[in-house]
Formats: sequence, C-alpha cells, structure tokens
Amino acid sequence: MTGAGSRTGAITMPSTGSSPNKDDSDSDTDEIGFAHVPVMKREVIEVLSQVPPGVVVDATLGGAGHSEALLDANPEIVIVGLDRDEMALAAAGKRLANHSHRVSLHHCRFDSLGEVVRSLGHEEISGCLFDLGVSSPQLDRADRGFSFRNDGPLDMRMDRSQGPTAADVVNGYDEPSIVDILRRHGDEPHARRIARAIVAARPFSSTAELAEVVRDAVPAPARRRGGHPARRTFQAIRIEVNDELSILADAIGQAIDLLCPEGRCAVLAYHSGEDRIVKRLFRRAAGEVAPPRPDLPPPPGTVAEVELLWRGARKPSAAEIERNPRAEAARFRAVSKLRRAA
Ligand SMILES: C[S@@+](CC[C@H](N)C(=O)[O-])C[C@H]1O[C@@H](n2cnc3c(N)ncnc32)[C@H](O)[C@@H]1O
Repeated sequence: MTGAGSRTGAITMPSTGSSPNKDDSDSDTDEIGFAHVPVMKREVIEVLSQVPPGVVVDATLGGAGHSEALLDANPEIVIVGLDRDEMALAAAGKRLANHSHRVSLHHCRFDSLGEVVRSLGHEEISGCLFDLGVSSPQLDRADRGFSFRNDGPLDMRMDRSQGPTAADVVNGYDEPSIVDILRRHGDEPHARRIARAIVAARPFSSTAELAEVVRDAVPAPARRRGGHPARRTFQAIRIEVNDELSILADAIGQAIDLLCPEGRCAVLAYHSGEDRIVKRLFRRAAGEVAPPRPDLPPPPGTVAEVELLWRGARKPSAAEIERNPRAEAARFRAVSKLRRAA
C-alpha cells in the first residue's frame, strides 16, 4: 500500500531500506536529524498492539517513533500515517523504510482521516493514535519559529504551505482577542498584562523579541517560577496559529466511527483544553452522557459505542519524566469499540 493515492497528498516512501537508528532505548534520532522521544511508548504499544489485524492510523505521525514500535510489535497491522508537517513526513518515511510495504504516508490534517482511509479502499480501521501537539524538532529548530529559547522568525505553522503565521496573530489581533487566546489555549494567569505589553510593543518579527516582551510583562516573582515566563504564551499562539482544537473532536469522532469491533483509539494530550475535549468525547461515546440537571437521569436512548479502557487519564512515570521532561504534561486516554449487537 506504499504511496497509495489520496487527494490529501500521498507521500512516496523511500525505496531503499536505509537502516533507521533502532535500538531498545528511547533515543529516537534518525539520519536527517529528526530527534523526538515518543511519549509513553510502552503504554501506547500495550494498548494499540492488541488490536485486530488491519489498518492502524497514526494521525500524528511525527518522527514515527510510535508507528515503528507498533509495526515491530504486531506483524498483522499496516500503518496509515498522517502529518500536516512535510519535514516530519520526510523523516518518518526514512525511518519506516524497512517497513515500506506496510506503510502509507499522507500530508494532510488529521480531520481528513476518513477520506484518506476510504481512498485507500478500507471501510474500517483496527486502531488509531493521536499524539497531539508538536514534535521536539519543530520546537527546537529556530527557523520554524516555535521556540522562545532560540531566535527565529515568528512563524509556528506546522504546515508551512498555508495559514496565518504567529506574526499575523501577534501583530494583527486586538487586545481582547489576545487575552482570550492566552487564557483559553495557555491557561496564562497574566494574560491581561501580557496582551497589553504585546499590543504596545508591536510589530514583532522574531521569537526573541516576543519572548523578551512577555518576560518583562510577567510580575517578577512569577518569572522565577514554572519554567520560562513565555512558555504559556508561545503555546497559546501556536494552538491559535494551527487551529489545533477546533478539528480535534471531529477527527476523533471519525476514528471512532471507523473502528472495527474491538478496535481501539488512543490519545495523548498535553494541555488541559485538549484533554477536556478528549475526555468529554470518549465519555459521550461510552454512553456516559451527563443529565441535563444533576437531579435528572441521563437522556434516554444514549447508546454506548465504545468502552473506556480505564477511567481517568494515565500519566507518564516519574522515571520517564526524568528521562524526557517534555513528557510531563502528557495525559493518556483510550477506548475500545464495542462488539456490534448480534
Ligand atoms: C507529538 S508529535 C508526534 C510524535 C510521534 N508520535 C513520534 O513518535 O515521533 C505530533 C505530530 O503531529 C503533527 N500534527 C499536529 N496536529 C496535526 C493535525 N491537526 N493534523 C495532522 N498532523 C498534526 C505535528 O506536525 C507533529 O509532527
């Protein structure tokens, strides 16, 4: 199924099997310099390697660390990998070259999931993984403009072929809109002060300029707590630029609809807004619809399509966070599709 066609942009896999840097450690660097340590890899593989034979969609392929481990763990699955970032797809293609007959890669947003799967001739899928947010190379490469540590252009687009940039948001939004995104996407307690400072200091063209203005806007005691003072602002702007939340529920809904009986959908989320969406959606699909009032029963006709594989969100172990501090915010949830009624 290599390079199978899709209107969303199928990627041709490299034909020769270069040897990806594969070992039992969590060090995931490939030859073109794409280094991303897959988060909660053991837990993800435990959940998704136990699916029925068939197609597993990796909706956020990144460097393909999870996909490669899944292909190794279960010889009866094939991977349909999606990413909106062409740099990630190029790295994933190289890394998965040894599995090319079991892999098909597509440049698209993950809400094209259903369209891609059907264009490949599949009516259902056995599993789906969403490992949300950005990869380490996206954050670390100054020229991508995601980093508050390395100076670069104010870009932050995962897909550099389209969409507004961070500069458009920072220089173009009015002050109340900036306050709103800092609160909603960044849980930023100093949203008003930061928004006021941004509006007073613009136009901005580089990440270092923005990081400095944000740092100066944050009260001095807060500057010394909780990491870089611009971290939450950069996260909020990145989520806005890439419209990360608006398509999430639709994409996960598509995955659940396509799952075969006992197929599984697993999601790693990295901030509260994302995780709230996942939690609500999974609960609703599991038939756990909240009653309109606490003293009333749930609405009649609430049909469960899936079961929650565990209650609440799993978190990475302390040992994993020590090895990979970027894993700290991860919240892991998963569901299994119920068998159809006989
Ligand atoms: C955290 S990384 C995934 C890392 C991957 N699991 C691994 O092991 O290497 C998230 C990836 O999802 C991609 N991504 C984020 N939102 C997306 C969306 N809406 N549609 C498609 N790809 C998306 C990003 O470009 C990034 O490469």
